[in-house]
Amino acid sequence: MRWSPRSAIATHTPPPLTRGLHLRGPRPILASAAATLLFSWLASSQGQAQKPAEYAGSEICAACHAELVKNFRRNPHQRADTRGPWKGRACEACHGPGAKHAESGAAADILNPAKLAPARAEQTCLECHGAEISQRWHAASAHSRNQVACTACHTVHGQPQQLTLKAPAAANRLCSSCHVAEWAEFQRPHAHALREGAMSCADCHDPHGGKQSGSLRIVSANEPGCLRCHADKRGPFPFEHPPVRLEGCKACHEPHGSRNPRMLTRAEVRFLCLECHSNVGSRPALGGTPPALHDLQSPRYRNCTICHTRIHGSFVSRGFMR
Ligand code: HEC
Ligand code: HEC
Ligand code: HEC
Ligand code: HEC
Ligand code: HEC
Ligand code: HEC
Ligand code: HEC
Ligand code: HEC
Ligand code: HEC
Ligand code: HEC
Repeated sequence: MRWSPRSAIATHTPPPLTRGLHLRGPRPILASAAATLLFSWLASSQGQAQKPAEYAGSEICAACHAELVKNFRRNPHQRADTRGPWKGRACEACHGPGAKHAESGAAADILNPAKLAPARAEQTCLECHGAEISQRWHAASAHSRNQVACTACHTVHGQPQQLTLKAPAAANRLCSSCHVAEWAEFQRPHAHALREGAMSCADCHDPHGGKQSGSLRIVSANEPGCLRCHADKRGPFPFEHPPVRLEGCKACHEPHGSRNPRMLTRAEVRFLCLECHSNVGSRPALGGTPPALHDLQSPRYRNCTICHTRIHGSFVSRGFMR
């Protein structure tokens, strides 16, 4: 068994600090107990134990990486350097113990998450971020399963907005660099304002995964994330139009953008309706001849939503008329 810088991070990680950033109570004790056991086992089984790699402290890093350390003061991770268990050595929380590298200046003596296998790079981040609610589904996410690690999206050094990705334009640039086809859909005439930078993919999707198909965001009570902005479609309506709840918005809309007005899946509203409401059955509502209620030959009946205005559901009308 070989000592690795990774296991040193794992065993040396004490409990963090700020909101959401974990760890659970007893773990550090267990971890340090495990470390003690590990090292005594190494000592007894190998005769001469390897010395655990040592931390140098962030100040030492500044001696050679002055510019980078200066810029790092604006990084949210600077917080880990000013207080909590990684106080004074936050660089090494991600790069592993750096004493040896600080002497040699050799790349081989220091961890660079960008050069690690994706799964291992992720571990570096999840060490502190793993217990956050937002990361709950991460391991099962399409991204994690496809080797898209935290560092594929979050650039740690550099401008803070590159790290946080809260600016819609920055997020869209990132997502579209891989999802070229989806980005193309947003160039259609009727689409949410992603091109304009007013909204981002992350408004509808959680890039860290989720239990909904397509990692769609949900709002409270497991409703589709669309309702966060389109609250008037929420209900509950005494007169529901079943597909709205049962099949969801994409039964009738193309959320990534459409050639059709209102981002509908069909060019004309009536063609959409007629997909489900055909003129067959014992009591045909639609048709060319009496007793059909609607005469589809007549232009008067073609624009369904002129009369059925509350198509997403109504509080008062069974036929969604008002
Ligand atoms: C004595 C000067 C010196 C000190 C002190 C020093 N470094 Fe370096 N570091 C270097 C040099 C030189 C390189 C470039 C090595 C190369 O490219 O071969 C480097 C490269 C790196 C890299 C990139 C490695 C890679 O794989 O590309 C990281 C990460 C790094 N240093 C982190 C640190 C951290 C963290 C500290 C503080 C614990 C630190 N350094 C302290 C000189 C130093
Ligand atoms: C939150 C994790 C994290 C912290 C904290 C961190 N780094 Fe890095 N560092 C990375 C990652 C990830 C990379 C790979 C490039 C990237 O994604 O920005 C990197 C790359 C580097 C490099 C290689 C050159 C480069 O920019 O690519 C150096 C040198 C370096 N870090 C030094 C430091 C020093 C010094 C500190 C402390 C002031 C520090 N890092 C703090 C994660 C971190
Ligand atoms: C030493 C523990 C630690 C490690 C390891 C760590 N982080 Fe952080 N991270 C923090 C702290 C502390 C903050 C600041 C949180 C705050 O301000 O609430 C932060 C903030 C962030 C933020 C910005 C959050 C926001 O809303 O502003 C991102 C993104 C992030 N980290 C990504 C990463 C990535 C990617 C890695 C792995 C390369 C990583 N972190 C590794 C502790 C850590
Ligand atoms: C596919 C790209 C992608 C990957 C992979 C990814 N993130 Fe993010 N992350 C984002 C975006 C985009 C945001 C901004 C979300 C928003 O606007 O709400 C974000 C936000 C965050 C935040 C800020 C707080 C929050 O939850 O909104 C943290 C912390 C964070 N990510 C950590 C991580 C860690 C740790 C990993 C790896 C386990 C990771 N991310 C993987 C894209 C990604
Ligand atoms: C480094 C390339 C890369 C980046 C950057 C990236 N993705 Fe992905 N994404 C993938 C891969 C690979 C898959 C899995 C294969 C697939 O479904 O195409 C995937 C799958 C997905 C899926 C569908 C599968 C699911 O269940 O989650 C969504 C949604 C998604 N990505 C959204 C985003 C968003 C939003 C962003 C920007 C915050 C983003 N991606 C950035 C590569 C990337
Ligand atoms: C208005 C909300 C919304 C926005 C904005 C949005 N999406 Fe989607 N996306 C959806 C919905 C709804 C689905 C269908 C998910 C499902 O039911 O499986 C979807 C599906 C996907 C899928 C999965 C396709 C599949 O077959 O599994 C990917 C990948 C994806 N979106 C990427 C993106 C990217 C990249 C962006 C930004 C350029 C983006 N989305 C913006 C709502 C949105
Ligand atoms: C972040 C907020 C937000 C989210 C989330 C969101 N939308 Fe929107 N949506 C908007 C805004 C803003 C408009 C433009 C309203 C306007 O032009 O009056 C819009 C417009 C629309 C339109 C009408 C377009 C038109 O031409 O009138 C449809 C249909 C629509 N959204 C469906 C959806 C669906 C389906 C989802 C979920 C998959 C969704 N939206 C998620 C903000 C959002
Ligand atoms: C049964 C088909 C159907 C379903 C399901 C559906 N819609 Fe619609 N939606 C329509 C039609 C048809 C229109 C156009 C109405 C018109 O012509 O005035 C529309 C228009 C809209 C508009 C723009 C006009 C307005 O009323 O604000 C928004 C926003 C919208 N839908 C959001 C949603 C959301 C969010 C969902 C999911 C909760 C959803 N729709 C589900 C059929 C549907
Ligand atoms: C995805 C399938 C689907 C689409 C598309 C759809 N409907 Fe429906 N609609 C249903 C179902 C299912 C019911 C409830 C069963 C029933 O009564 O036939 C229903 C019920 C109705 C009712 C009430 C029927 C009653 O018994 O009182 C009206 C009115 C209606 N739809 C109008 C429309 C209009 C107008 C459109 C086009 C904008 C439309 N529907 C699109 C599936 C759909
Ligand atoms: C001129 C107004 C008007 C137009 C246009 C219209 N309808 Fe209706 N529709 C009605 C009225 C009135 C009823 C009876 C309402 C009731 O029973 O509450 C009705 C009832 C229905 C019903 C329920 C029938 C039943 O079994 O009770 C369906 C389904 C329906 N319409 C679909 C459509 C479709 C699809 C279109 C477009 C092709 C359309 N309507 C256009 C006025 C209209």
